[in-house]
Amino acid sequence: MGKIRWIQVNAPEEGATYVYELVKEKLENDELRVIGLATGGTMEPVYEAWVQSPLDFSNTIAFNLDEYVGLDPSSPNSYAYFMNEHLFQHKTFLKTYIPNGLADDEDEECERYERLLNEHPLDIQLLGVGENGHIAFNEPGTSQDSLTHVASLTPSTLEVNGQYFENREKMPTTAYTMGIRSILNAKQLILLAFGERKRAAIEKLAEGVIDPNWPITHLLAHPNVIVISDLVEPKR
Ligand code: PGA
Repeated sequence: MGKIRWIQVNAPEEGATYVYELVKEKLENDELRVIGLATGGTMEPVYEAWVQSPLDFSNTIAFNLDEYVGLDPSSPNSYAYFMNEHLFQHKTFLKTYIPNGLADDEDEECERYERLLNEHPLDIQLLGVGENGHIAFNEPGTSQDSLTHVASLTPSTLEVNGQYFENREKMPTTAYTMGIRSILNAKQLILLAFGERKRAAIEKLAEGVIDPNWPITHLLAHPNVIVISDLVEPKR
């Protein structure tokens, strides 16, 4: 099992600076051809720092972790919209990929996405974590060998993410998500988690035992993981 590098920070902005320096160095050394991106409030300071900087992603391909099934990229709740707002309209990438929420055939869309990932192996994957320990939309119980698939969102995720939907009735209950294996295939994983709501998930990870009820713990199967967090570094 790999060893996690824990980076203790005081605030999300400090975490964003850490990621910035790491990404800058990799770009300068031409070691960042493909980057895996994530959505959510945790990532906003990270992208903000990139947008305000001279970082050049024009030779980098970006993949996003997930997208709601049924949402149009023009829907403010779609992750395509989030990425456009926070990053893609400000920074040019060689190519950006995100699952197509409007695909006719869900199975085909999952296969297409996984094929693209195989063609362009991820140098880095950025990750947030859900309060229930989910990674992307890999909810508790998801197999470590899962590839890109359609996930049913748990009541916890529906509750937490539902706050962003004006009309909760219209919130999708399923989403495309890279699987845990698709994520573990990245060369390096960088997880960010801030605030008390994430403490249970971070403490589970710090226990150092893979527990399928806490998808975050599958990161223990990866040889190169950095966790950036303001939560007290738990005893290990
Ligand atoms: P958040 O979401 O960054 O908005 O907390 C993280 C997640 O649910 O993966």
